[in-house]
Amino acid sequence: MTWADTKQLIANIWPPKATFLPKDYKDLKGQVVLITGANSGVGYEAVKLLIPTGARIYILSRSAERLEAAIAELKKQFPAADLHYILVDFNDLTTVKGAANSFLAKESRLDILIHNAGVMALPTGTKTKQGFEAHLGINVMGPTLLQELLTPILFKTASEINTTPNAVRVLFLNSTAHGQSSPKGFDYDKLEDLTRPWMLNYGDSKAETGIMILQWAKAHPAVSAKIPVLLVDPGYAKTGLQQHLSWFEAFFVNMLLNDPIISGYTVAYCALSPDLTVKNTGDYIIPPGRIGRMRDDVKESCTNEDGKKLRQWILERVLPYA
Ligand SMILES: NC(=O)c1ccc[n+]([C@@H]2O[C@H](COP(=O)([O-])OP(=O)(O)OC[C@H]3O[C@@H](n4cnc5c(N)ncnc54)[C@H](OP(=O)(O)O)[C@@H]3O)[C@@H](O)[C@H]2O)c1
Repeated sequence: MTWADTKQLIANIWPPKATFLPKDYKDLKGQVVLITGANSGVGYEAVKLLIPTGARIYILSRSAERLEAAIAELKKQFPAADLHYILVDFNDLTTVKGAANSFLAKESRLDILIHNAGVMALPTGTKTKQGFEAHLGINVMGPTLLQELLTPILFKTASEINTTPNAVRVLFLNSTAHGQSSPKGFDYDKLEDLTRPWMLNYGDSKAETGIMILQWAKAHPAVSAKIPVLLVDPGYAKTGLQQHLSWFEAFFVNMLLNDPIISGYTVAYCALSPDLTVKNTGDYIIPPGRIGRMRDDVKESCTNEDGKKLRQWILERVLPYA
C-alpha cells in the first residue's frame, strides 16, 4: 500500500457528515431496486434510506427467517414499503439461477442492482458447496453469476425510452481491505489454494469484485455505455461482517467501527446522486459520497489483460450453473 492508500484508510475512520440526504433523493416510483444481503448491516441501512423513494425493492439473501424479520422491522417503520425477498445462497451456485429466474418472472425492469452480500474472516480452508475458497465463492463467484443472469434486463431497462440517462446503475460493495490483496488484486496460481489466511482471501475477494464488475463493463460496451458502474467502499461499520473475527481481532477492529448508517448514505449516494454518470464508471466511492482511490495495481487489473484472465477463469466455473 502506498502512502495515499494508507491516508484514505485512516480518513475513512472519521468521514465527514453526509450532505446528500433523503430530502435530495429522487422519486423512484415504478422503478425496481435489487440488493443482495440487505437483511442486516450496510444493506439494511441502505434499504431504509431507499424505501421512501417509492421504489419496489427486492432483497436477495440466504435466510428466510432473517429476511422476514428484517422486512417486518422495516414495515413497522414504513408500512407502505414495497419490499420483497428472494432466497439465494452464494455458497451454492445452484441457487443463483433460481433466484434470478424468480426475480425475472416478477419484474420486467431492473433500475438499480446493488451487490452488497459478503462474508469476512471465515476460517482458512472454508469451502463453498462447489469446493471453492469461501470468500472467493460467496463474495465474487456467486454475485458474478447473478450479474450475468441479470445483464439482459439491465440492458433492456437502460435502453427504454422513458429511462433517464444514468439512472440505471450497478453498484458493487468494495472495501479498504482490497489494499491488502495480492499484487494485481489476485493470485492466479492460488485461486484454488485453501491454505491462505482469511485476510488475504478477503482482501483478494474485494479486489476481485472490482475487477470482475469492471471487466463485465468492458466486455459489454453497449450496456456499460448507458450504465454507471460504481465501486462502493462503505467505510468501517459495526455489522454482522465482524462475527467471525477472533476476540483479539475484534478488540482492535471494533475501535474503528462507525454506525452503519454512514455506509447506508454512501450506498444511497452511489445509487441516486445526479452527480454520478457513466463517466464515473470505475470510480471508487468512499463515505459518505466522495471519490476515493483503489490501489493502483488493482485498478489496472480492472481493465487490463490480467483482469480479463481472472474473468475468464471465473466465468468458466460459474456459467455452467446459468
Ligand atoms: N461493515 C464494514 O465495515 C464493511 C467494510 C467494508 C466493506 N464491507 C462490505 O459491505 C457488504 C455488506 O456487509 P455488512 O458489513 O453489512 O455485513 P453483514 O451485516 O454481515 O451483511 C452481509 C449480508 O450478506 C449476507 N450473506 C452472507 N453470506 C451470504 C450467502 N452465502 N448468500 C447470500 N447472502 C449472504 C448476510 O446474510 P445473513 O444475515 O444470513 O448472514 C447479510 O445479509 C459486504 O460486501 C462487505 O464486504 C463492509
